[in-house]
Amino acid sequence: MDWGMKNRLTKIIRPETGRTVMLAVDHGYFLGPTTGLEDPGKTVQPLMPYADTLMLTRGVLRACVNPDVNVPIVLRVSGGTSILGNLADEGTTVSMRDALRLNVSGVALSIFVGSELERKTLLALADLINEAQEFGVPVLAVTAVGKDMVRDARYLGLACRIAAELGAHIVKTYYCDDFEKVVRNCPVPIVIAGGKKIPEREALELSYNAISRGAVGVDMGRNIFQSEHPVAMIRTVREIVHADLKPDKAWDMFNTLAAEKEGAFA
Ligand code: 5RP
Repeated sequence: MDWGMKNRLTKIIRPETGRTVMLAVDHGYFLGPTTGLEDPGKTVQPLMPYADTLMLTRGVLRACVNPDVNVPIVLRVSGGTSILGNLADEGTTVSMRDALRLNVSGVALSIFVGSELERKTLLALADLINEAQEFGVPVLAVTAVGKDMVRDARYLGLACRIAAELGAHIVKTYYCDDFEKVVRNCPVPIVIAGGKKIPEREALELSYNAISRGAVGVDMGRNIFQSEHPVAMIRTVREIVHADLKPDKAWDMFNTLAAEKEGAFA
């Protein structure tokens, strides 16, 4: 692995702990102005100090994030669908040239294993990896779960392993029962998405369970930015991911921070 690839990977998975808290705000590329992302710049501003990376689209990065920020970017480079259409019919939407111009640390693309368009999305992943390799850019494969798919270890394990076999450097999937099997059968690091908003305590437990069963971190969005206390949430998730804070203590920490004025980076 060349120096550039290694260097970019350290910006995503922190060498101090081997873990990562990725803040995902790319949802608009198919959901539009979803709750909490009506003004993405305003949403991410207070959260960035606690995020190891920001995952977002080219349009939001350019329009809503100040270039002087010191947070590594993982750029969503697939899309072309909407919630009104066939979500599996994604293609690559950003050139590697433009991704590099945007000085990203990684790129992300979704695969839809089990959908009628699985081949198209898997070949798009392979093409992206081939090009990214040329420039030393890590690729995060996102295992989207088709509406007919069951989010279990068998399915997620299949999707994660295929992404790794194609050469993805990191795989984003979802937590599930027997999650340790998904991790054990995947030769590259796994991060979990949070999925739809759930009560904060459950989201904290989810994060802890994923980390304790082998995930290297989270690439979480809605369970942070749709929380009533987003800063408290990301700060607590950070302690779980980087310090293995246990669920009960995490819940206490969240409530303490939520009770305080949500404020500056301590
Ligand atoms: C949307 C995505 C999101 O980045 C991913 O799902 C993480 O966000 P959340 O924690 O809200 O699920 O890939 O397609």
